[in-house]
Amino acid sequence: MTQTSPIHFNAFDMLVPVHQTPGLWRHPESRIDQFDQLKYWTELSQTLERAGFTSLFLADIPGIYDVYGSSHEAAARGGVQYPLLDLQVIVPALAQATEHLGFGITASVTYEQPYLLARRFATLDHLTKGRIAWNIVTSYQDSAARNLGLRDQIPHDERYDRADEFMDVMYKLFERSFDDDAVVANRENGIFVDPDKVRGIGHQGQWFSVPGEMLTHPGPQRTPLLFQAGSSARGQKFAVDHGEAIFVINAKPEKLAAQVQATRAQLAAAGRAADSVKFFAMATIIVGETEQEAQERFAEYKTYVDTEAALTLFGGWTGVDLSGLDESDYVADVQTEANQSALAMFTRDPSKKWTVRDVAEFISIGGRGPTIIGDPVQVVDQLLHYKQISGVDGFSISAAVRPADFERFEHYVTPELRRRGLLPERPPEARTLRETLLGAGPHLAADHPGNRLD
Ligand SMILES: Cc1cc2nc3c(=O)[nH]c(=O)nc-3n(C[C@H](O)[C@H](O)[C@H](O)COP(=O)(O)O)c2cc1C
Repeated sequence: MTQTSPIHFNAFDMLVPVHQTPGLWRHPESRIDQFDQLKYWTELSQTLERAGFTSLFLADIPGIYDVYGSSHEAAARGGVQYPLLDLQVIVPALAQATEHLGFGITASVTYEQPYLLARRFATLDHLTKGRIAWNIVTSYQDSAARNLGLRDQIPHDERYDRADEFMDVMYKLFERSFDDDAVVANRENGIFVDPDKVRGIGHQGQWFSVPGEMLTHPGPQRTPLLFQAGSSARGQKFAVDHGEAIFVINAKPEKLAAQVQATRAQLAAAGRAADSVKFFAMATIIVGETEQEAQERFAEYKTYVDTEAALTLFGGWTGVDLSGLDESDYVADVQTEANQSALAMFTRDPSKKWTVRDVAEFISIGGRGPTIIGDPVQVVDQLLHYKQISGVDGFSISAAVRPADFERFEHYVTPELRRRGLLPERPPEARTLRETLLGAGPHLAADHPGNRLD
């Protein structure tokens, strides 16, 4: 493999007992039953920093996975993304325990209010000195809609139309409301903020009315680094319009290549530099000192798989309840208001008809992404192969046994990456996450739509 420039790795995790690997919380090396202890997350963040990760990327959903069996019971039993802590509360403590690690924060534009969310992101950006990214999601759960004041979900594509306006408001708040030198804190003349350098944004649209000024001054990045993971046609259009980093998922790098190329072409058509956006693929790594040890570990992990919990995760992602089917039944193609691409991967696969059992086994370790197994050299070779075929820029690593597999990454994979010059020996000098990850300035690029407001 010829790649020699550094690759960025993000850790992909969630403040829950089961994120991507149902059943594995029962593994003897798992400490994830301490997921409600701050110490667990500060130690994990420190491990990630030592291991050379660029950020800890935290997923979030605003509802319970209650599609399987039309009930909360299976999610509760299996700890399937439940119970779920509030990530926005925990991040400042993790920033305090680390120096360089970035934090990817998932927040839903369907259920948050832009005026308050902008203040929260600006606060986090100040407190972390610009180490914040925002994973912009539109959400896909009926249970979220029901508990957050809606009878039904807003239809899939309309959620993205509304999200466009949400982003418009956010850009105006982050980029327009305060001049750089608005905060003067001048003891002589008694002026803290120069009122002439702060202005209302005057937003009046179809969904939002925000006439006033931003509640707090913008942080070092102004707009946090923007991540997006939409993969339907409408979701991809949204990613092209707003994303600076795009989070993708596919077990097969050849399939991902088409998506990456199509998105890069759309970026160019939208007037943005095709390489201005970085793609990160989710991957799960099972590494051992030898190939045999890694394979044995993988085989052992499989003995902890929990089929009901896997189907609960599938139901949550896709909105499709497989509880009434036999394990040998095929998974049919249906339209839902949930995550369409998660469903299409199984129902529109030309190479295979998926049974219920196939789906459960497949997503149980590594979710919908690739599971990379081997000794350190083999793991890095496979990562490079995946990267070369798919055209992604880096990886978001999910752990099967938590936090053990992140610790094993530090122990086995990091030294091999450093040996090959694929990971810097040391993190860069204090910089914002945007500078570290995109290699650009601290603010949105000039050709980003957030800088091209009417
Ligand atoms: C790797 C990855 C991580 C995601 N994380 C979240 C998340 O934390 N919360 C969420 O509501 N959606 C999350 N999503 C779902 C996406 O935001 C999006 O809804 C999904 O990819 C389906 O695309 P679509 O909305 O264009 O149909 C994630 C998707 C991917 C691929």
